Amino acid sequence: MKRVYVDELSQHVGSDVEIAGWLQIQRGNNKLRFLQVRDGSGIVQAIVAKSDVGEEMFETAKGVTQESSLRVRGTVNADDRAPGGYELIVKDLEIVGQSIDYPISPKEHGSTFLLDHRHLWLRSKKQHAVLRIRHEVIWAIRDFFNNRGFIGFDTPMFTPNAVEGTTDLFEAKYFDTIAFLSQSGQLYAEAGAMAHGRVYTFGPTFRAEKSKTRRHLTEFWMVEPEVAFMDLEGDMQLAEDMTMYVIERVLDKRRDELDMLERDVSKLEAVSGPFRRMHYDKAADILVKYAAEHPDEEGAPFTPGDDFGGRHESILTMNSDSPIMITHFPAEIKAFYMKRDPDEPDRALGFDMIGTEDAGELIGGSVREDSYDVLVSRIKEHSLPMEPFEWYLDLRRYGSVPHAGFGLGLERTVKWITGRDHLRECIPFPRMMYRMKP
Ligand code: 4AD
Ligand code: MG
Repeated sequence: MKRVYVDELSQHVGSDVEIAGWLQIQRGNNKLRFLQVRDGSGIVQAIVAKSDVGEEMFETAKGVTQESSLRVRGTVNADDRAPGGYELIVKDLEIVGQSIDYPISPKEHGSTFLLDHRHLWLRSKKQHAVLRIRHEVIWAIRDFFNNRGFIGFDTPMFTPNAVEGTTDLFEAKYFDTIAFLSQSGQLYAEAGAMAHGRVYTFGPTFRAEKSKTRRHLTEFWMVEPEVAFMDLEGDMQLAEDMTMYVIERVLDKRRDELDMLERDVSKLEAVSGPFRRMHYDKAADILVKYAAEHPDEEGAPFTPGDDFGGRHESILTMNSDSPIMITHFPAEIKAFYMKRDPDEPDRALGFDMIGTEDAGELIGGSVREDSYDVLVSRIKEHSLPMEPFEWYLDLRRYGSVPHAGFGLGLERTVKWITGRDHLRECIPFPRMMYRMKP
């Protein structure tokens, strides 16, 4: 008998097939049992009638417990009332692996309990839906760049130098020296862009940030395109186009998962370009005014010149259907590699893209300093050691060009699209300040 997946059942109506999976739940009476069988691709109701299978097999079916694995064989029936539209009229059933006292029951559990059982929690419907959307987002991003002539360019995790500042580096013993876990593949991607013109790196990045917020992981995935001969406006347009492509793709392909998560899809459908561009000074004005009007609100007070906190990002996008791009941050609060605006030399030629619905910063990007002399002085100003950056300076010694790129946080994007309220549900096994297990 042919083994098929639940999401293929529509092609097998009237035929006998085998489904292999796990029992989610069952109900019924002493003559008829309804088994919800989950195989990863979907859930099908397997109907076991005592009159069809006999006394012994009926008792076996009745005894299958939550999350036991099993094979069920029978005839595929189309029925609009069945969840998913198809059901299996069982002729034969076999238990593969018992599951006794499965720890996660349909009742409510606390988040600590669920995170301790993340390896099992992954099987629950909502978690399953989130990670399928994550998968779609990853492939949408890859397709977007591949279709535009970018080359996938994988950068190392072990690195000798800091990218985003020295305060949140993880160190690893590396034979008789020390390596840092990469905070960003950007510097290497710049070398890639000088070789291939357009590249993107997509991989795990690490930040030893002592922040326990819903928006921070210590290990997260970032996609970072880098393009030779691109300016700030081109960079922002690329970020906007990619974001629109990803949203449209998830709306097109992952409706079932969004429905399972009870996501208000009208919010995603409302996202449209052009995303608003806003100078940092304008954003600062809005925040100062807001804080004056809401004197008691926690997180609202703002001093111009500072970086934004989570609450500030939410205030800035409060009345917006689409993400906004904030440009021209004070250069001193941004990374050493950012080029400055010749018209406003104390400002970085960079942007942060802030998502709607409290999503926070989804993207950070900039034009890179391409002058050898200026870059050398920036490295000194930031008190960074020169030697590990010698190779990076070579990119300015040999055929330097204006270039730009950005980094999109994958989990932040998945959180935004799925409407979850914590990044920890947006990656299979989250790594946070107080959690490295399971
Ligand atoms: O703004 P960031 O630090 O930018 C860079 O790393 C640049 N080198 C990117 C580039 O230009 N190639 O990080 C980029 C994005 C943020 O906008 C955010 O979405 C995400 O990475 N991010 C985090 N996501 C989860 N947990 C954290 N601790 C994060 N820190 C940054
Ligand atoms: Mg940033």
